[in-house]
Amino acid sequence: MAKRSENQGLFNLETPAKPQGPVECLGMTFENDEARREHFLGLLREGLEELHAKLGGVPFTTVEDAVERMKSVEKWPMGDGARRRELAERMRHADSSKDLLQRWKDEVGFPHGEIEDILNLSDPPYYTACPNPFIADFIKHYGKPYDPNVPYSKEPFAVDVSVGKTDPIYKAHSYHTKVPHLAIVPSILHYTEPGDVVLDGFCGSGMTGVAAQWCGSAPENYKRDLEALWEKEGRDKPKWGPRRVVLGDLAPAATLIAANYNLPFDVNEFARAARRILDEVEQEIGWMYETLHTDGKTKGRIEYTVWSEVFTCPDCAGEVVFLSEALDPKTKRVKETFPCPHCGAELTKNNMERVFESRVDPASGGTWKRVKFQPALIVYKISNQRFEKKPDSHDLAILRRIEELPYPQELPTNRFPTEKMYHGSRIRPRGFTHVHHFFFPRAAHALSTLWHKAKAYPDNRIKKMLLFFVEQGITPMSVLNRFRSNQTSQSNQVLTGVYYIPSQIAEISVRYRYESKLRTLSKTFYTAFSQSGLAWLHTGSTAQLALPDNSIDYIFTDPPFGENIFYADLNFLIEAWYRVLTNTISEAIVDKPKDKGLHEYQYLMQRCFEEYCRVLKPGRWMTVVFHNSRNAVWNAIQEAMLAAGFVVADVRTLDKQQGSYRQVTSTAVKQDLVISAYKPNGGLEERFKLTAGTEEGVWDFVRTHLKQLPVFVSKDGKAEVIAERQNYLLFDRMVAFHVQRGVTVPLSAAEFYAGLAQRFPERDGMYFLPEQVAEYDKKRMKVKEVLQLRLFVTDESSAIQWLKQQLTRKPQTFQELHPQFLKEIGGWQKHEKPLELSELLEQNFLRYDGKGEVPSQIHSYLSSNFKELRNLPKIDERLRAKAKDRWYVPDPNKAGDLEKLRERALLREFEEYRESKQKRLKVFRLEAVRAGFKKAWQERDYATIIAVARKIPENVLQEDPKLLMWYDQALTRMGEES
Ligand SMILES: C[S@@+](CC[C@H](N)C(=O)[O-])C[C@H]1O[C@@H](n2cnc3c(N)ncnc32)[C@H](O)[C@@H]1O
Repeated sequence: MAKRSENQGLFNLETPAKPQGPVECLGMTFENDEARREHFLGLLREGLEELHAKLGGVPFTTVEDAVERMKSVEKWPMGDGARRRELAERMRHADSSKDLLQRWKDEVGFPHGEIEDILNLSDPPYYTACPNPFIADFIKHYGKPYDPNVPYSKEPFAVDVSVGKTDPIYKAHSYHTKVPHLAIVPSILHYTEPGDVVLDGFCGSGMTGVAAQWCGSAPENYKRDLEALWEKEGRDKPKWGPRRVVLGDLAPAATLIAANYNLPFDVNEFARAARRILDEVEQEIGWMYETLHTDGKTKGRIEYTVWSEVFTCPDCAGEVVFLSEALDPKTKRVKETFPCPHCGAELTKNNMERVFESRVDPASGGTWKRVKFQPALIVYKISNQRFEKKPDSHDLAILRRIEELPYPQELPTNRFPTEKMYHGSRIRPRGFTHVHHFFFPRAAHALSTLWHKAKAYPDNRIKKMLLFFVEQGITPMSVLNRFRSNQTSQSNQVLTGVYYIPSQIAEISVRYRYESKLRTLSKTFYTAFSQSGLAWLHTGSTAQLALPDNSIDYIFTDPPFGENIFYADLNFLIEAWYRVLTNTISEAIVDKPKDKGLHEYQYLMQRCFEEYCRVLKPGRWMTVVFHNSRNAVWNAIQEAMLAAGFVVADVRTLDKQQGSYRQVTSTAVKQDLVISAYKPNGGLEERFKLTAGTEEGVWDFVRTHLKQLPVFVSKDGKAEVIAERQNYLLFDRMVAFHVQRGVTVPLSAAEFYAGLAQRFPERDGMYFLPEQVAEYDKKRMKVKEVLQLRLFVTDESSAIQWLKQQLTRKPQTFQELHPQFLKEIGGWQKHEKPLELSELLEQNFLRYDGKGEVPSQIHSYLSSNFKELRNLPKIDERLRAKAKDRWYVPDPNKAGDLEKLRERALLREFEEYRESKQKRLKVFRLEAVRAGFKKAWQERDYATIIAVARKIPENVLQEDPKLLMWYDQALTRMGEES
């Protein structure tokens, strides 16, 4: 066996992956791994057949009967307690028992596929291509039961999702918006200990699993570097050792990649088997890729054939093979304009018409109308030399011969649900409606042969690895592979995230696609790959997890982010080959053709987060990485998280220039976000039940929340203000905590701020627990200054925060403030009513009129900044003169009166909106709407909230987290009470 370098293999384990001797699994001992698999496949088959029998028509007498009987298939995911009752309630509306079971299947995200196909892909109990009925047993055997007496305390931790994108493991298999495992490892090390259980219910290609296992097998150089970095950052040393992991995804295409990444296999056996398959395929269909060199004798091996779309000339109507005319052979560039080969007219791609041709559909035998393509260029090799040529009669004869062969047996014929697909309009009008339409005949035969051989491999685990390997050719060998004349490799030039059929397609050969892939895979997965029993995978919706309550130690997750990537649609082309397809009903996505808007997305995400919250141990953390493209989507996900019971403690975004994280305090961010949220610990939730709606409940929440926040954050030798510790954010979190639990908020903002100042020590505008403040002071002494958060003034609320920041630093007169204020308000939002500086000052701050004692806020500023004013009594004439007309931040005890006045003004304005006959309000005061919604909510006047919300432009409502919270609450409560 070759010697392995530190970075070469994936997991540094010497034990063979395919145990020869007895294996232990879920407390049972099996003669070998094959016996283990057979045993659990038998159980899975029984369960699937039982379900099938029920679907087949054994009638249920009542819903209760159905639920009872499904409970008897005990391990299928039906959630626990309330979730089970809710499911029963939803199923109650089914018409027949068949309908009922189908509803259950949709709810749990049961993929569409025949039993045999699901079994073929599964490797139970570790992996099932459907919901995994064995996962609860896994927790029973290997999880650590939740013990409220075991102390657990961690601060939020940010992740850099751009780390590790060139790592060979990351590149071993692509997936839409993949997060590299090396970006996840530090988080897992921070939040967990060896043996803990990590969960990712939107696992995609399963990188969270790879990261969890990597914690136990990282090479020494990696460990050294990370430990050095953590030491520099003042963190404790990580505890190395593998973590266990539960991975789930709705898409079988995703979980299959994840299973192959995470379950052990014998890489040598895989490499041998893959080699044999490639050789056999070469023998059987190698002739398809032969071409004659220009000498007419020597045989060359085709690397790829470029097919060009055919158009007609607008002048002479002659057919134009686009590539033949537009490609400049010298520069290898496609020309913008070129002459018509028939009449010489100037042509561009846009002034020509597409040509459609009628063909015989090879699957149905019917007529198939499709845009016309013609082979235009062949790139081939003789020995190691590369040549290119135009296809000649010999090449065309080979292509005809291939077309006449019988239909390739493995080639799927599924029809794409184009009417329900966002990208349906890209493919349907051009004649690509079925999976087999996406492959030219030669690629279809090649893939079918490869697939057949991989599927037939006797060893179940190696078979799956072979499918993992072959599957990586499906998309690049399809008509989606663009020919890009300026690129050296054409091996995978598919436009990601869409179904885009280019005008020039590079139809690549088997060798071209697979030879180098096999070499890199064998190197990457060099040796025995992890150990059994660490990773457990299922295929189904995260809205229904078969995990017990309070059983998970940490969640790392990268959920779908609205409407950018249509996972199920994109996976369709792959899953059709597996013959097991995603159940799209529970896909959390914004997808108009599937009747899923932002609201449905939020609802589906909330259900998933509720499950996350149920299974996570109290006091434990969840990291959500989120690719933010639209603020409305970001708000939807935030709201879903809060409504599910999580408390958000930190939101960060990567500052690409600085390479460090910035705190996110506004909603206007269109970047990758890292959200750290925790499940309130059992103590708080329990206590809150008794103290809800009282001051005691408020301060209990604040105390618990402060405990979860970072104490000191520094950057470049400067301390950073921790946004979450500021009074207004603490207030917002406290309000959200109450509202999400349907409890009246007992304190106004001013009362809250006053109470906060009385109870908790304040430093640099942040609040701490008494035991935290000593640590803050100690670390604060070592840095020169505190970096203020940069605030952007876009509306009344941010203007108030900005003014507060200015006036805390320096009480100022109107004249001093005004020019600065005008500079700040350039980004004021269109819908937000413009406010004069004087109005903002009067409603939120105090002005010293020169009479009586100088307020201490101004006094301390003047005495520390003006030598001549030092140590003067507050009543001194000179001091009073200098202080006159300066605005200052009222101390918390006095702010109450001001707030009451302001609230009255805001509510008056809200009343106008309510009574307005306008259908849509164009310009309004968001703060007035917020105040009005809050009051209406406290008074259970949900109808007012809904009525006013409907007058507000949809985008404003969806982009404002506070309005969205009240509105959602009103909708839910209205539904409950009606
Ligand atoms: C952003 S991707 C995750 C990519 C992953 N981080 C990786 O590295 O490959 C989101 C995934 O969520 C899945 N998904 C969508 N709705 C789901 C649901 N209700 N339950 C579970 N998974 C779902 C999609 O199939 C998709 O694979």
